[in-house]
Amino acid sequence: MRFFLVPTTLIVTILGVSLNGCDAKVVQFIFGDSLSDVGNNNRLSRSLAKANLPWYGIDFGNGLPNGRFSNGRTVADIIGDETGLPRPPPFLDPSLTADVILENGVNYASGGGGILNETGTYFIQRFCLYKQIELFQGTQQLIRNKIGTNAAQKFFQESQYVVALGSNDFINNYLMPVYSDSWKYNDEAFVNYMAETLRGQLELLHSLGARQLMVFGLGPMGCIPLQRVLSSSGDCQDRANKLALSFNQVISQMLEKLSGKLANASYKFGDAYDVVNDVISNPHKYGFNNSDSPCCSFGSIRPALTCIPASTLCSDRSKYVFWDEYHPTDTANQIIAKELIKKFGFSRANGGNAPSSAPAIAPAIAPSPRD
Ligand SMILES: *[C@@H]1O[C@H](CO)[C@@H](O)[C@H](O)[C@H]1NC(C)=O
Ligand SMILES: *[C@@H]1O[C@H](CO)[C@@H](O)[C@H](O)[C@H]1NC(C)=O
Ligand SMILES: *[C@@H]1O[C@H](CO)[C@@H](O)[C@H](O)[C@H]1NC(C)=O
Repeated sequence: MRFFLVPTTLIVTILGVSLNGCDAKVVQFIFGDSLSDVGNNNRLSRSLAKANLPWYGIDFGNGLPNGRFSNGRTVADIIGDETGLPRPPPFLDPSLTADVILENGVNYASGGGGILNETGTYFIQRFCLYKQIELFQGTQQLIRNKIGTNAAQKFFQESQYVVALGSNDFINNYLMPVYSDSWKYNDEAFVNYMAETLRGQLELLHSLGARQLMVFGLGPMGCIPLQRVLSSSGDCQDRANKLALSFNQVISQMLEKLSGKLANASYKFGDAYDVVNDVISNPHKYGFNNSDSPCCSFGSIRPALTCIPASTLCSDRSKYVFWDEYHPTDTANQIIAKELIKKFGFSRANGGNAPSSAPAIAPAIAPSPRD
């Protein structure tokens, strides 16, 4: 399906160029963690956070692992599809060239990464947000060399930016006693430290040309299967959920102030906390049958940190909210994306071609289902 859209895109581009010289396509630059990673960590040889084994990607394209930490699409994939933006390739894709970037943008997201440099050291290799912005600066130089400084400035100012990190700063930093941040800060001070750090990073992105930018807030991260198994009752971790709510509130206020201060900027905040919380409390209302355990799991041995070839899958992946211990399924991501599109008040880019269809269901290489 996406394949057949290519000729149309080319015609539009050629017409665009012949009509007014240097009208570039609107593309996205995505900064994020495993919820948005589309293949960077798979190319980080020493990273311990990779989605490079079956059954990751089972409902995406050919069904082989592609770097996404889900069975299907990420939230950013779905929002891009629905708003007419191309899916940016991962920064570490060896076929990434200036031409590819001008047509598709770049995704710098990296599993295990956080707003803070010190987050996720446990995973050994990952791109934290500062590192992702450094890589973006390299991309900008490449594009300036290709199309010149003025055209590059216009291109980057017209692009869309997504910044979606924060849960690792809690789950793989502050809430883990092995990290010094866990004893250096209290809850409020830590959230403020994150907000200050993010503010600096967003100001830096503005100085590099970012004008249209969205920050995704956090969901009820105390309810991911990995957090639930921490208690014998299997309930959500109230403290983690309160931290997510507090992060969302502080970041939302920070962005409102910042957006008013930065020239020509539309920097928006949106979260899907309430909807996801409702999905988790009332899964049947939304067509789910399970909202507390991963679809892909290693028998009853939990938590198995990742989904692996020896894992068994639930019989109907569209009935599970969670794909693995951390990450939602494609079906849950659709609900999150729909909510964010509403919060951000999106309009379609690039002349509004029809949204891509949902990914084809993969070939029958699935393990025998559980249940
Ligand atoms: C964070 O990392 C970046 C490089 O990725 C570095 O330039 C910056 O100084 C670091 N900041 C702190 C506070 O360590
Ligand atoms: C803001 O937009 C105006 C009008 O397009 C332009 O002249 C000005 O240089 C822009 N300022 C920044 C910082 O982008
Ligand atoms: C929902 O899950 C229960 C138990 O896990 C199972 O018995 C039932 O068949 C499932 N229903 C659907 C519609 O999948």
